[in-house]
This record gives sequence, structure tokens and C-alpha cells, in this order.
Amino acid sequence: MTQAPPPRTPGRYRIALVCLGNICRSPMADVVLAARVADAGLDDRVEVVSAGTGDWHVGEPMDRRAAALLTAHGYDASRHRAQQVLATWLAEHDLVLAMDHDNLRDLRDLGETDPARVRLFRDFDPDEPGGEVPDPYFGGDAGFRTVLTMVERTSDAVVAAVAGVLG
Ligand code: 4NP
Repeated sequence: MTQAPPPRTPGRYRIALVCLGNICRSPMADVVLAARVADAGLDDRVEVVSAGTGDWHVGEPMDRRAAALLTAHGYDASRHRAQQVLATWLAEHDLVLAMDHDNLRDLRDLGETDPARVRLFRDFDPDEPGGEVPDPYFGGDAGFRTVLTMVERTSDAVVAAVAGVLG
């Protein structure tokens, strides 16, 4: 199992999730991971945010296909508004988790990065560690369902890893 690095501030944990547009993959991961954190009773100690490396969709809600799927599965997708990742996030978050290798490369271009903290989200996937979350934006509904399945099982593993280092 992939280990989570220790928190920078004892007893608190900050996680940033990053994709390209911040309207499909990282918002889905954000909503699911935040729900799992709350289920684990850790929502007063673990912060989850998401952003895109690009700025095209800043201020927009989630892609309606992503939102519809999340809603059908009992999640609240209504509060998301897209934002662009800031270079300062690299030092402020305990984990900065990229959805694919392009996103990870773009994060590394923003500044100095610690590979234990700035890495692929699916490094924590118990089924296929180190895979990418494929971009569903230009595809059909099946792509969004694939993303949700990956994000749910990986979020469970992230929560377990973070709970382990929070103590
Ligand atoms: P995301 O998907 O990175 O999962 O939010 C995309 C959203 C928008 C675009 C590309 C990917 N776009 O080119 O606008």
C-alpha cells in the first residue's frame, strides 16, 4: 500500500487534486474523497480541494455529465466551481495528486516538487497502482463511469493512508 507522507501541521492534512480543466476528473475525485473523509469522521482534520492546470473553465460548475453521475450515486456535485492550481499549493499541501502524467509534469513545471507529496492520484489505487485517470471529457458516459469506479476505490485507500499518519 502506498504510504501517505506525514502531515506538515500535526493533526491536520491538506490534499489537492489536480486535472486539466477542473470540471471532470479532479472535481469528481474531490467530491468522492471529501465524502469518504466525512464518512471516516475526519472532515474537521482533512481538507480536500481541487484545481486544473488550465484556466479555460475557471468559475464554471462541474461538467453536467460528471455532476449527473455523482448525483445518481448520492453525492453532492452542486458546490463545485472550477479553479486553476497555484504554484503556492506545492508547498502548502501534504499531498498534491495528479490525475494523469501530463498533469503531473505540469505541476513539476510550477516549482520544486517532492515526489512523495506531488504524485499520481492512482499511486494509491489498490487494484492498479500508478495508473492514470483517463480524461472522459471528449468521450461518452462510459468514460465517466470508469472514472467514478477508479476514484471511489482510490479514495478509500487515500483515506486509509491519511488516517494512518494522522494518528
Ligand atoms: P478534466 O477534463 O481535466 O478532467 O476536467 C477536461 C475538461 C476540459 C477540457 C479538457 C479536459 N478542455 O479541453 O476544455
